[in-house]
Amino acid sequence: MSGVRKIRLVVLISGRGSNLQAILDQAASGELPVEIAAVISNRPGVAGLERARQAGVPALELDHKNFPGRPEFESALIELIDRHRPDLVILAGFMRILTADFTGHYRGRLLNIHPSLLPKFRGLHTHERAIAAGEIEHGASIHFVTAELDGGPVIVQAQVPVWPNDDPDTLAARVLEREHRLYPQAIHWFAEGRLRLDGERVLFDGQPLDRPLRLENPSG
Ligand code: GRF
Repeated sequence: MSGVRKIRLVVLISGRGSNLQAILDQAASGELPVEIAAVISNRPGVAGLERARQAGVPALELDHKNFPGRPEFESALIELIDRHRPDLVILAGFMRILTADFTGHYRGRLLNIHPSLLPKFRGLHTHERAIAAGEIEHGASIHFVTAELDGGPVIVQAQVPVWPNDDPDTLAARVLEREHRLYPQAIHWFAEGRLRLDGERVLFDGQPLDRPLRLENPSG
C-alpha cells in the first residue's frame, strides 16, 4: 500500500450493502487506506450487516422506528457514530433523509453515492426515470452531503451507456458495477487528503473543480 495514513471510516447502510462489500474488500486487501470502525444500519437484520460481521467489522443496528421522530433518531445516530471517532462518514445505500443539523455536524467529512449523473435525477427510481427521459448516458455520482437532498457538491462520476433494450434492472446492474469502483476511488482521494469541501465547492489537490471528476480520467 501507499504510505498514506489509514483514516477511520464509519459506513451507514440500510440494505444489501454491495457498495460496502467493495469497500470492505479493498480495505482487507490493503488497497484502501481505511480502518472501518463501524457499519451502522437503520434497518435491523439487513444483508449489509452480515457482510460487515463476516469481515470482522462492528455491525450495529439503530432502528429509526424506535425513536419518536427524526431529531431524536439523529441525535442517537450522531452519538453512536462519534463513539467510533471517524475521519469520514459515508452513506452507502442509507435510505433516511437527514436534517441540516446532522449534515452540518459532519460537514466536509460526509459522502454519499447516488445512482445518477447529478444534478440529473435526484431522489428515487433514478434508473426508471433515466430510461423514461430517453437518456443515452447514465451513471453514478459521489458527492459531499449538505442539507439539500442529493444536492451537495459532486466530486466524481462514472458514466455508462443506456442501451435501447435496457430495463431499470439491466441499467441498475451496469451502474452498480461502476459504483463499486467509484466509492473506493473517492475514499482513497479523501484519505490522501486530496479532497476538501470549501463552501459549496469541492477542492481537489487544492484547486476548485468546475465540473465533477470522471472515474476514468480523474485529472482530465
Ligand atoms: C446504490 O445504488 C446506491 O447508489 C444507492 O443505493 C444503492 C445501494 O446499494 N444510494 P448497496 O446497498 O450498496 O448494494
